[in-house]
Amino acid sequence: MCGIVGYVGPDSCPEILLEGLRRLEYRGYDSAGIAIFEDSATRILRSEGKLNNLSALLDEKQLSGTVGIGHTRWATHGRPTEQNAHPHKYGRATVVHNGIIENHAQLRAQLLERGHEFSSETDTEIVAHLVDESISKDATPLDAVRQALMQVEGAYAICVLVDGADDTIIVARKDAPLILGIGEGENYVASDIPAILNRTRQMVFLEDGDLAVVKAGSCRVLDLDGNTMERQSEKILWDAVMAEKGGYKHFMLKEIHEQPRAVTDTIRDRLSPAEGDAYIDGFDVDPSTLKRVVIVACGTSYHAAIVGKFLVEGMARIPVEVDLASEYRYRDPLVDEGDLLVTISQSGETADTLAAMREAKKKGARVLSICNVVGSTIARESDGVLYTHAGPEIGVASTKAFTTQLSALVLLGIHLGRRTGKLSGDDARELIHDLLQIPEQMKEVLDHSASINVIARRYANARDFLYLGRGINYPIALEGALKLKEISYIHAEGYAAGEMKHGPIALIDEDLPVVVIAPLGSGYEKIINNLTEVRAREGMVIAVASRGDPDIGEIVDDVIQIPHIRPELQPLLTVLPLQMLAYRVADIRGTDVDQPRNLAKSVTVE
Ligand code: AGP
Repeated sequence: MCGIVGYVGPDSCPEILLEGLRRLEYRGYDSAGIAIFEDSATRILRSEGKLNNLSALLDEKQLSGTVGIGHTRWATHGRPTEQNAHPHKYGRATVVHNGIIENHAQLRAQLLERGHEFSSETDTEIVAHLVDESISKDATPLDAVRQALMQVEGAYAICVLVDGADDTIIVARKDAPLILGIGEGENYVASDIPAILNRTRQMVFLEDGDLAVVKAGSCRVLDLDGNTMERQSEKILWDAVMAEKGGYKHFMLKEIHEQPRAVTDTIRDRLSPAEGDAYIDGFDVDPSTLKRVVIVACGTSYHAAIVGKFLVEGMARIPVEVDLASEYRYRDPLVDEGDLLVTISQSGETADTLAAMREAKKKGARVLSICNVVGSTIARESDGVLYTHAGPEIGVASTKAFTTQLSALVLLGIHLGRRTGKLSGDDARELIHDLLQIPEQMKEVLDHSASINVIARRYANARDFLYLGRGINYPIALEGALKLKEISYIHAEGYAAGEMKHGPIALIDEDLPVVVIAPLGSGYEKIINNLTEVRAREGMVIAVASRGDPDIGEIVDDVIQIPHIRPELQPLLTVLPLQMLAYRVADIRGTDVDQPRNLAKSVTVE
């Protein structure tokens, strides 16, 4: 999964492209390159590794030109080398690409038979060959790109420069994100909003199958057959600073502290405390026909889905199934008329979740997506979208998107519960009252997180961690473990506490820190039994506990207190200390917190 940016206008663009790529580096960062039209020739610079290498090369080579494209890579086909870095040029065509050309092997074989020679291992280079081949048959640059894409199968967001057409970038998308940025006498292309947010707020979200001819004064959108397509531009309200670190050491830390605001924005104007109800704009369900809810997602979003099961079953008394999208899509799932499929995705571009959604839609399910990116593919292909308003999430390890997903699921539980009649108006009003306190309570937990630094220093060199939780906090144990794994590279496992004695208890000794989520409420006694079993085997226990719990301090090594709240809302608070613990441990270990190794922010490949 890569990042793409492009510019056509009066300004010298090498720096504009580089700045755009810097803001896209969270999407992929193993190599990068730019191509600029200079004196009617296409000049290309590429480098392996982080963007600083390309920046150094640019300082040395001093390119100038007002039309160009750029790319930051996350390798899928071909090792992360300069040779495989984008842009790829063949003959008169230069291409940058995000996605996967699934029939690249066949196309490469056919081109080799026709005497072509390849200079990289990538699937992308094929597009340059196909475009140049059409150009040599006198096709116009636009027709050449269309003819090339008609032969390509798979996912792509591409930008193409053609020698001689040096005032134009031709772009296209299918199953990979691409947006146009509309300026005054200049225009932009980008994989994601932050890349160009400092230059324009007017964005056009291209649809699957769209191509666009981008010039300084115009953007013409058309489909693969050449028919003109109308696309509305949208004003993005995010400010550029939101995309910057706001003074924090890492985006992740900034985003952890943004959670009170993000949850407020997500529940804002969707709740009616008076009527005791929650609204999902532009989406309604008929409770009489709604038989089952199926929630599919990946990674952190999947952990939110498990919490969603507790919330929707608890409030609406409708059976809820939760599935990993990568499993669901290939399981030939049973889908009935009365099924509501809920997809959860921060990016709205995760390939497995998108494919699972398409599979269920094909079988007749209605789809509601809980998504953070306006105009993303999952959002646009859903019957309804409950947008989380986390704002841009740059840190690869998801934090604020997670808690906004949890709040969206509380809204969904109330919405369905009121419509099935299983949640009374009074209960809903009480729940809404407590939900509206959450942002303040989150702030409290985050403002009192200094004690976590001490705990982090004590366990930063541990080889393994075990996380335990029960009921609605079991998925929070999974999430805490995932956060630590992702950014500190320490092996960590989240487990249902009741399952511990069926195996993982064998792991416990004086070297294993065990994080136990033990707030007061249902299952409290049981979880205390579990942590006593850990203590009996010299395990070191860090407990996330309710303020005012008189006993827990006596029986554990470290306590992290959170305000005492009702079980349905506990995950919104119990996860915060776990995010912070993972962050502090990783920061002490000096890992690349915002761009951990081997990971990418949104996984648009299988
Ligand atoms: C979480 O920190 C990771 N970035 C990853 O597990 C992520 O949750 C997963 O890839 C799903 O992404 P999505 O929410 O954008 O679909």
